[in-house]
Amino acid sequence: MNEVCFKTLDQKKSWSLKTYEANGGYSVWRKILKGELTPDQIIDELKTSGLRGRGGAGFPTGLKWSFMPRNADVQKYVVCNSDEGEPGTCKDRDILRYNPHSVIEGMAIGSFVMNATKGYNYIRGEFMEPFYRFEGALKEAYDAGLLGENLDGSSVSFDLYAHLGAGAYICGEETALLESLEGKKGQPRFKPPFPANIGLFGMPTTINNTESFASVPEILAQGGQWFADIGVENSGGCKLFSVTGHVNEPANFEVPMGIPFKDLLEMAGGIREGRTLKAVIPGGSSTPVLTADAAMAMTMDYDGIEKAGSMLGAGSVIIMDDTTCMVEALTRLAHFYYDESCGQCTPCREGTGWLYRVLKRIMDGNGKADDIDLLLGVQDKIIGNTICALGDAAAMPVESFLRNFRQEFEYYIEHGKSMVKG
Ligand SMILES: Cc1cc2nc3c(=O)[nH]c(=O)nc-3n(C[C@H](O)[C@H](O)[C@H](O)COP(=O)(O)O)c2cc1C
Repeated sequence: MNEVCFKTLDQKKSWSLKTYEANGGYSVWRKILKGELTPDQIIDELKTSGLRGRGGAGFPTGLKWSFMPRNADVQKYVVCNSDEGEPGTCKDRDILRYNPHSVIEGMAIGSFVMNATKGYNYIRGEFMEPFYRFEGALKEAYDAGLLGENLDGSSVSFDLYAHLGAGAYICGEETALLESLEGKKGQPRFKPPFPANIGLFGMPTTINNTESFASVPEILAQGGQWFADIGVENSGGCKLFSVTGHVNEPANFEVPMGIPFKDLLEMAGGIREGRTLKAVIPGGSSTPVLTADAAMAMTMDYDGIEKAGSMLGAGSVIIMDDTTCMVEALTRLAHFYYDESCGQCTPCREGTGWLYRVLKRIMDGNGKADDIDLLLGVQDKIIGNTICALGDAAAMPVESFLRNFRQEFEYYIEHGKSMVKG
C-alpha cells in the first residue's frame, strides 16, 4: 500500500526534499512553527493512532512521549535508533535511503513535544548509503530553514545530527546506544532509571525506532483515527514487514496490520519453485520460530502473531522451506548471539557460549543423549536474568526450535547427521 513510510517510494528521487514536500511533507512541522499545534494535541493523536514502537518491543509511542518531563529545566534530547542489527530486519535502512525526510520531520515533531532542542540519529556503521542519504537530507532541511535555531521566527529550535555506530548488535539496545553515543563502550545500563529521566549525557531523552519516527508526520497529517483504521484493534496502522529467506521475491512491504500471513507470503512471490514452507520466524531472529501450519493460520499483527506462539518484534519475517536443517539454522543463530553478547552479564556471556558450543558439537556429530535437556536448561537460566533483552533474544529461539522441531535434533544426535541434508 506504501502510504506512510514508503509514501514517496515510486517517485523520482524519492529521498529529495522536493519530492517529500510535493507529497505534503513538512506540513505538520510548518504548522508547529506557526503555533497551530500543541504538544498535548500531538500526543492525543498518536495515542488515537495506536502506533506502537517499531523497534521490537511495541510500546505505544504516544504514551512514551507523554512520560517525558518536558518542563524540566535542562537540556533534553530525542534519539533515533537506526542501528537495525536484528537478523532478518532490513526496513530502517530503506526508510533512510528512500524517505529520510520523514525521519527528520518525525524527530523534529518529537523534539517539539518533548521540548528537546537537540537530536541524534544513531545509524548502523555499515549503512553508508543510508547514512549519506540522511546527511544529504539534513543539509537540505537546514538550507530550507527547517532545522536550526528560532525557526521561521518562532521560539522553536531543533538541531539534528547523524552519528555512525560501529556495527555492534548490542548498540541497538537503547541504553547501550546511549553509552555508545557518549563515546563509551556500548553496554546496556540498568533500568530504572529510564532514559526519559536519565538518558543521553544524564539528561531526559526519548528514543524511538526509525520507522516509529517516520510514521509520525503522516499520522498527524491525516489524523490518528485514519491510521488506526488502516490496522486492527491493538495494532493500529500499517507496518513494514521485511520478508526474507526462501521466497521468490524477498523485499520490504508496507501493508496494513492484520493482513493474513499467507497474503504477505504471496506478495513476496511465494516459496521457491518446487519447495514447501517448513518454518517461519515472524519478527526477527530473536522471536520464536513457528511451524508452517501455525504461520499459515496467522495474521500479521501483535495479537495475531502472539496467538500463533511468537512475537511481531521488528516485523522481520524469515521464511524457511523444506530444505532447511533446523539444527543448522539454530546453530547459525546461536553463533550470532554468542558473537554479539556484550559480555556484561554472566548468564548471557557464558550461556550464549554454552548454547553455541553444545549445538556445534551436535552438528559435528558428537551430540550426547542429554544435550537437548542441557540446551533447555541453559536457555532457561538466561531468560529474565540479564540487564537487557539480548539474553532473552538468544534464549527464546532455542526453546521454540526444540519444541517445534525436536525430532530433527534427536535424529542429529542419534545419527550424527542431518535428517534433512543427510
Ligand atoms: C539486543 C537488542 C537490540 C536492539 N536493537 C534495536 C535496533 O536495532 N533498532 C531499534 O529500533 N530497536 C532495537 N532494540 C529495541 C530498543 O532497545 C528500543 O526498545 C527501541 O529503540 C525503542 O523504540 P520504539 O519504541 O520506537 O520501538 C533492541 C533491543 C535489544 C535488547
